[in-house]
Amino acid sequence: MSVRALLIAVLSVVCVGAAQAADPIVVKFSHVVAPNTPKGMGAERFKTLAEQYSNGAVRVEVYPNSTLYKDKEEMEALQLGAVEIIAPSLAKFGPLGLRVFEAFDLPYIFDSYAELHKVTGGPLGARMLESLEPRGIAGLAFWDNGFKSLSANAPIRVPDDLRGKKMRIQSSKVLDAQMRALGALPQVTAFDEVFAALKAGVVDGTENPHSNFFTQRMHEVQSHMLLTDHGYLGYAVITNKKFWDGLPGAVRDALARAMREATDYTNQIAKAENDKALAAIRAAGTTEVRVPSAEERQAFKKALLPVHRAMAPRIGKDLIEAIYDETGFDPDDL
Ligand code: LMR
Repeated sequence: MSVRALLIAVLSVVCVGAAQAADPIVVKFSHVVAPNTPKGMGAERFKTLAEQYSNGAVRVEVYPNSTLYKDKEEMEALQLGAVEIIAPSLAKFGPLGLRVFEAFDLPYIFDSYAELHKVTGGPLGARMLESLEPRGIAGLAFWDNGFKSLSANAPIRVPDDLRGKKMRIQSSKVLDAQMRALGALPQVTAFDEVFAALKAGVVDGTENPHSNFFTQRMHEVQSHMLLTDHGYLGYAVITNKKFWDGLPGAVRDALARAMREATDYTNQIAKAENDKALAAIRAAGTTEVRVPSAEERQAFKKALLPVHRAMAPRIGKDLIEAIYDETGFDPDDL
């Protein structure tokens, strides 16, 4: 072996050794849902891509099912820098004092994923993510889950069937107003406690997209479900801004690329995952699943659309109207 070849061989051993010795940057990604949901699958996809694109400079640890932090704690943990990435539902940003995200909770504001993406993929969505920065948070992406159904331990056909029922909600003032508009009694419960609360009868019913119903086994403790599609549930994927800004440029670029691709993936699979979950709920046979008639659907719309006007002073009339402009929502329906 020539001296030059020997030198190259020695150098390459030293370099690999150094790369292995350097500790990877650990990115903890905490969330509250099951791994086999759109968000859970998106987090795993992000992990794979982030580790690949950073050539192992980053290790992503995904903590599903509230195993690291629960609903309320995760936002505080992110701000404190105890966790690097979380993806709370858009209904859970109120405690930050940011009401713009509550616009997503307005009943029937989006008729389809396509309408919703006009907002999340456009300038309005970008401005919403930017509004997080003064809170020490960088907004990375919007991830879809889906459209919600209502469930209870009693038949539901029309809004009056929910009168007096205790309904679990996320911590959103809009969802509180929505349940009150139905005559129900809203009760905020952390996501990891919903199954037990339904089982024990602490609450009578709830709402969620089917992927969450099925993976949390809520259908096992709910006798009836009405496929209302009365509201959207999705996520903002967010990170601690100081952590993000402090990353070496090449690592941040790798994570941003991984996030873009994980976002496309999540938003592509979300509908199919919810359809699969609904089929599984039906197959389980523990819940009577009802498709509302046109009149029943109309009755829910009539009861719930006034929530838009009632919440406009809180969320901002201009923002709500800007969303109507993007989606083509007709305010005459109100
Ligand atoms: C809920 O609390 O009902 C959901 O937002 C949980 C989630 O993150 O999908």
